[in-house]
Amino acid sequence: MNRTRTKTHIPPETVDEIRTRSDIVEVISECGVPLRPAGRDYKALCPFHDEKTPSFSVSVEKQIFHCFGCQTGGNVISFVQKYEGKSFIETITWLAERLNISLPSQDARASANRKRFTSLEELNRFAVQYYHRQLLTENIGGRAMQYLRHRGVKPQTLKLFQLGYAKSARRDLVKAATDEGWTIQQLVDAGLIKNEEHGPQDRFWNRLLFPIQNERGTPVGFGGRALSEEHQPKYLNSPETILYNKSKVLYNLDKARQAIYRKGNALLVEGYMDALMLYQHGVENVVAACGTSMSEAHATLLKRFTPEVILVYDGDSAGLQAAQRGLHRLLAAGLRVRIALMPNGEDPDSFTRQHGAEAFAALTEKAINLIEFQIQTGVQQQNIHRVDVKTQVAKDISATLINIQNRIERSEYVKYAAKELHLSPEMLWHELRDLGLKEAPAPYRTRTNKTAPQKLSPRAQIEAQLIEALIQSPTLIAYVKTQFHHADFTEPNFVQLAQLLWEANSENEEFNIQNLLNKCHDEKLRAFISNALLRKTPPNLQARVDGCLRKLRHFIFKDMEQRVRSHALAEGADEFETLKELVKLSDQRRALDAQPIHEPGAYQ
Ligand code: UTP
Ligand code: MN
Repeated sequence: MNRTRTKTHIPPETVDEIRTRSDIVEVISECGVPLRPAGRDYKALCPFHDEKTPSFSVSVEKQIFHCFGCQTGGNVISFVQKYEGKSFIETITWLAERLNISLPSQDARASANRKRFTSLEELNRFAVQYYHRQLLTENIGGRAMQYLRHRGVKPQTLKLFQLGYAKSARRDLVKAATDEGWTIQQLVDAGLIKNEEHGPQDRFWNRLLFPIQNERGTPVGFGGRALSEEHQPKYLNSPETILYNKSKVLYNLDKARQAIYRKGNALLVEGYMDALMLYQHGVENVVAACGTSMSEAHATLLKRFTPEVILVYDGDSAGLQAAQRGLHRLLAAGLRVRIALMPNGEDPDSFTRQHGAEAFAALTEKAINLIEFQIQTGVQQQNIHRVDVKTQVAKDISATLINIQNRIERSEYVKYAAKELHLSPEMLWHELRDLGLKEAPAPYRTRTNKTAPQKLSPRAQIEAQLIEALIQSPTLIAYVKTQFHHADFTEPNFVQLAQLLWEANSENEEFNIQNLLNKCHDEKLRAFISNALLRKTPPNLQARVDGCLRKLRHFIFKDMEQRVRSHALAEGADEFETLKELVKLSDQRRALDAQPIHEPGAYQ
């Protein structure tokens, strides 16, 4: 899969055609973001962060979006990429399909596979609808409906989740699906039936069915709950198929993803029923692993939508152990992990039914960082004073600490764990090195706040103004380019942007900001561009550019003076020569103020 993906190449003309024909307002609306007209533009509550007043803007004229709250932005392609969590190629394919544009075909096998995929998806949709209708048919699904009512599931919830019922007959779906033209092989491939000695048999019978959908809402399998204690197993799940890779699917992610974006975290629960009932109670950012333990792929999947996961587990020991198992993988994917424990014997479904959604929210708000949690539970163990117990706890904790991706964070937790365990931090570092940690501790680094906007140096602020002016008025690029090298910028982001702008200008074609956005692989840079485009353009951009150039020269000369001085200090250079050079430099710097940079005719 990955191999064909990296091989796929879509020509830039095609990318541009698809981009031009995909109206950004239409696409964003189709993705379910409710846009409201505001003057010539559109506004909405930002789907990428939680907010009360809309700071997400879409410009029809410029075909870009930008959120002034969380500084996310770009064109229609960047939107779909981020919102749908797709790669660039996947996004182009998706937009092309939407427009009915056929992309240069990949090899024949890939397209045959694609057909097989699509037909199994269709078959799954058929099965979901079929089982759902059965549930709604009184004399067939009556008892299952009663069960759902008894558990407090509302009619609109069971519709939204497309719950179904498989009746007691062993060849019910076999018949219904083959009547519709599906083959036995297709049914087997989809995991819906089993080919037994005495003929094909339905996988699910007399079970309540939870359709499992991937993050795009395509049904890929089912979880089937028995309706009585005697009927075992309690949950029977679809097998893995070409559509259903259990470690890559999280139940309810398709419905939860918007809320996950908004809230900035995902709740991970254990059961289908937990996810469904929380959703019904308005807790929408909830997903469940379907009868498997948390995998690395699950973590990577979640990371596409959120930086933080809150594990919600039963307070009993099984739940706890499960929590500890998932932990390493989540941390290793770079997720922040917190844990909320349900009171003993309760799960989110039973808890919310008894105590309500607010009590549940209070529990998750109190969720404690999983590493602290692990350290706490370790420390609270009986006999922690015993050397062997303490050693084991230190080892367990080290196994977790080594998965923390952020060095500073790791270092802080090493200190914290050492304090709690009454050990020296060096002992834990030692343990970590034994586990393969290569770096030295980072005790001298200061904590930085990643989310706070980086404060730009005075020089970088001017650089930002200059780049912004060039994005707003690209005809000025040619002029600036003759006087300024992209490497003259100090801020790495601006060096990159300037390079892109300089290149775009040399291509002998008309400058196209959309093409630039497509070439820009860094989210931060795309956001800078969309921000610049949506900001009010100052009345005289040429004057602004000249002002910026003058100030930047100032900085450059000052920088040179500085270097001459420190060179003189370091090398004991000829003082007279140094002095002469310094005088020259500062003269040049002063002359800048007198002399206009923009000579008439330098650019039109
Ligand atoms: P639980 O046994 O905790 O059930 O299993 P539950 O989700 O609370 O279900 P209800 O409330 O009794 O109806 C948690 C999850 O583990 C998986 C399922 O995904 C289930 O939702 N599981 C459990 C299985 O896959 N097979 C089983 O036999 C049991
Ligand atoms: Mn339950």
